[in-house]
Amino acid sequence: MELRHLRYFVAVAEERNFTRAAERLHIAQPPLSRQIQQLEELLDVVLIEKGSRPLRLTEAGEFFLVHARTLLDQARDLKAMTQRVGKLERKLVVGFVASTLYGELPDIVRRFSERFPQVEVTLHEMMTVEQMQALKEGRIDVGFGRLKSEDPSIRRITLREERMVAALPPNHRLAERNALWLRDLVHEKLLVYPKSPRPSFADQVLAVLSEANVVPGAVAEVRELQIAMGLVAAGQGIAIVPESVQAMHHRNVVYRPLDDKHAFSPILFSVRHMDRSPELGHLLAAVYSIYDELGIAYVPETL
Ligand code: BEZ
Repeated sequence: MELRHLRYFVAVAEERNFTRAAERLHIAQPPLSRQIQQLEELLDVVLIEKGSRPLRLTEAGEFFLVHARTLLDQARDLKAMTQRVGKLERKLVVGFVASTLYGELPDIVRRFSERFPQVEVTLHEMMTVEQMQALKEGRIDVGFGRLKSEDPSIRRITLREERMVAALPPNHRLAERNALWLRDLVHEKLLVYPKSPRPSFADQVLAVLSEANVVPGAVAEVRELQIAMGLVAAGQGIAIVPESVQAMHHRNVVYRPLDDKHAFSPILFSVRHMDRSPELGHLLAAVYSIYDELGIAYVPETL
């Protein structure tokens, strides 16, 4: 079976009509019908109900359609990914979630650029789910994110687990305490971000609360980290953020560590599966060298 058979079948199934499918594929109808017939012979299964108008798929046809679409998507991704890996000029395009800017990202990028000045590094802020798509489409080479996706075409390395902290206005009653538990946040208005795309860090925070059986008084979804922090400063609620965000000093925001043992958020290094570009190995080495200098604990991995 060839990819061509899949493309032809998907067009026929989507158009529910051979003439329109042939037009869409820019081929004549008789060869299209022959290819579909050949596909059914190859599979030894009837995919399209005989004589149906508009055309209807059999149960096997519906099953084949779902999987044919997935395979065609993967073939398209594979083309973009391979083109990216094969590029000769040395460039490194990095996707990152906003919170990592307050962690070690700036130092890591500076360290990498000092060591490899010939490599042009570009940075793009994007959510973890957007990073997965951008990796597959070849728009970025590496993503620093926080959500564990199970996509088989992406290799993910957990760099470290970062403690979560509560961000509160300084006059809040909980600000008098040195440390908090998640259960202290019951009855509070919680600001979570980003609102979209989902799943996002918002879902990670809600999952951590639900694991601790804590239902906040109210949850407001906001567009991004900076908005959440501005609203905390305005006394509009409390936000749960990774501890590196404490580097974002705000006159009207104080941070308190959350002592629950599962109140952590991972920092992930995601690349295309099997992409062994030397730049990626050098970038990972830059991460570990910064961690060594700062005494940050990690479990080293190789690409
Ligand atoms: C970190 O804070 O550990 C980190 C941030 C961005 C990229 C890599 C590591």
